[in-house]
Amino acid sequence: MNLEDIREEALKDVNSANSLQELQNVRSKYLGKKGLVSSALKRIKDIPPEERKEFGRKVNELKEFVEDIIQKKEEELKRRELEEKLSKEWMDLTVPVRGTAGSLHPITITLKRIVNIFRGMGFSVEEGPEVELEEYNFDKLNIPPDHPARDMQDTFYVNKPGYLLRTHTSPVQIRTMLKQKPPIQMIAPGKVYRRDDDPTHSPMFHQVEGLVVNEQANFKHMKYVIQEFLREFFQTDLPVRFRTSYFPFTEPSAEVDIGCVICHQEGCRVCKDTGWLEVMGCGMVHPNVLEACGIDTDLYQGFAFGMGVERLAMLLFGIDNIKLFYENDVRFLRQF
Ligand code: PHE
Repeated sequence: MNLEDIREEALKDVNSANSLQELQNVRSKYLGKKGLVSSALKRIKDIPPEERKEFGRKVNELKEFVEDIIQKKEEELKRRELEEKLSKEWMDLTVPVRGTAGSLHPITITLKRIVNIFRGMGFSVEEGPEVELEEYNFDKLNIPPDHPARDMQDTFYVNKPGYLLRTHTSPVQIRTMLKQKPPIQMIAPGKVYRRDDDPTHSPMFHQVEGLVVNEQANFKHMKYVIQEFLREFFQTDLPVRFRTSYFPFTEPSAEVDIGCVICHQEGCRVCKDTGWLEVMGCGMVHPNVLEACGIDTDLYQGFAFGMGVERLAMLLFGIDNIKLFYENDVRFLRQF
């Protein structure tokens, strides 16, 4: 077979190869040890010496040509194979999920639990922005500029003057009183921000605020609501105590403690051997706050409370590091 014929036949063979296996056979037919190209090279000894150089060059050129068309064909076949595979393994991503995919985050579970209990007691649910007016986060809550209480909550300020990342959900009390006349009975769940970072504090965390304003709201009413909430939340008749405290926006103010749910008041690391755990702040709304929102303090009074959701979730589920909530480690999340 002369070189021209080999070339033409190789082209035909490569073109008609329809699979990588077939192409492999074509490769050995031409480039294998006993293949047509190799055999052609062996004929060099039958060629007159003065033509050998030219003949050698032509055989090499043929070899390169065949290698080249086989490689191109191989790429084409591989691409075709991949396309076929992709079209066969096609999946309809718009099909609705059957059953539940994934599960709720423990903070979401805890928030829903809190919100449901207060809904059951007739509270409405209000929301406010996380980038808040300094005026609502502080001034109208009876915390004037230079008041030391501004340092109690290490604030993240934003570039826009007069705005900050809210340090608590209490500004939602203000927003609600500004837009709604009493009677008011609302809660405000949401994210808050403080420059704080250790095993029990995170720069972002969640609070639920509560506010009741009407003609009769009093401390006893507040104690009852909080006690009922905590017993419902922890599903046990646990001890609750009110300890006098200070907040600029409430007077009198109290901190609420529950009997340690970890050691049942035997004394442990979590309650620092006191048998008590602090779970929220509360108090009668300061008249300055009501007045700042245009509410007549001769007619109305109110009480308010605020709790940390991560803290309650840690106690409910027995979690000792707040960071676990934000790492999205499925080994942790799967347990809820
Ligand atoms: N805003 C307070 C805090 O973040 C909690 C609180 C709310 C206290 C309402 C009293 C009344 O610490």
